[in-house]
Amino acid sequence: MKILAFESSCDETAVAVVEDGRQILSDAIASQADMHALYGGVVPEIASRKHVEVIAALTEQALNDAGCGKDDIDAVAVTYAPGLIGAVLVGLSFAKSVAYAWGKPLIPVHHVRGHIAANYLAFPELEPPFLALAISGGNTLIVDVRDYTDLKILGATRDDAAGECFDKAARVLGLPYPGGKPMDELAQQSQGGVYTLPRAHVDGAELDMSFSGLKTAVVNLSHHAEQTGEALDRAALARDFTNAVSGELVPRAMKALAQTGYKTMCAAGGVAANSIIRADLEAACKKADCQLYLPPLRLCGDNGSMIGAQGYYEFLAGHTADMALNAFATRDIDA
Ligand code: KG4
Repeated sequence: MKILAFESSCDETAVAVVEDGRQILSDAIASQADMHALYGGVVPEIASRKHVEVIAALTEQALNDAGCGKDDIDAVAVTYAPGLIGAVLVGLSFAKSVAYAWGKPLIPVHHVRGHIAANYLAFPELEPPFLALAISGGNTLIVDVRDYTDLKILGATRDDAAGECFDKAARVLGLPYPGGKPMDELAQQSQGGVYTLPRAHVDGAELDMSFSGLKTAVVNLSHHAEQTGEALDRAALARDFTNAVSGELVPRAMKALAQTGYKTMCAAGGVAANSIIRADLEAACKKADCQLYLPPLRLCGDNGSMIGAQGYYEFLAGHTADMALNAFATRDIDA
């Protein structure tokens, strides 16, 4: 079964053709990151306009790259939530038009379910159940993937997502948007151990997380150095910050893993590209005798293929929609 899949929830327009949820036939992406870098972060209105500009040409490219025409496509999958509402609406409206004009089933896909499904594309042997640590620019979740379309949140951030925290910390350190990758490179230049950063816990919810205090601490340290003229060891701060984020994520993921009794874990989302978090997860999973799946870097960030992968399993479960399907800025992964 060949699915034409659309993703437009933030600042990447992405269209892909995926076969049977596991094989990428094409994967066209137009990133707007350079445009938003001018403003130090995503400007939602600009994101929507840029999606409108490229989505038709990108669809043609994805179909051509896959060697597919209208008759080869069996269904259309699309991110319908969560994300920047204007941005999600562009992809959703376009996908609905294609599905209607071509007479194909329309499959709504939750964006974070898509991130987790990126692992199905990279690892053919991977099947639920497993534990997923989904860490992206807008979401930070520990998820029990009981089955392909039966997911349960075990832990979540109570405020900022890990990626949002990386981007804001990077900005005050003078790094370009999106800040995750440059922070990673800067952090690798130091062993850290210079700055003491706050660590949060949520009473009565040991798997929940909070990143806003950490973000504010980096902002305050940077402003304080600016105002007093003190030298800031930027590499050490990047390292201590990353260690602190990893220290929030990895032990909680391992705790959740122990609770489920699973021996398989996957990482997902843009922040799963972080070299220090990847190394920490590898070390922890090795110690716990757990099989860890880390998606290749190109499948960590937003892409259309992951929507095609999850879309396949949503279709098998009978989760299709009619033309009344709406977009949602927020929606739980287990809704
Ligand atoms: O998954 P993604 O592309 O978009 C969302 O679904 O949100 O994630 C984007 C986030 C950004 O915050 C970006 O800075 C972060 O992933 N990111 C990283 C790294 N590469 C991208 N964060 C930490 N380390 C990285 N190497």
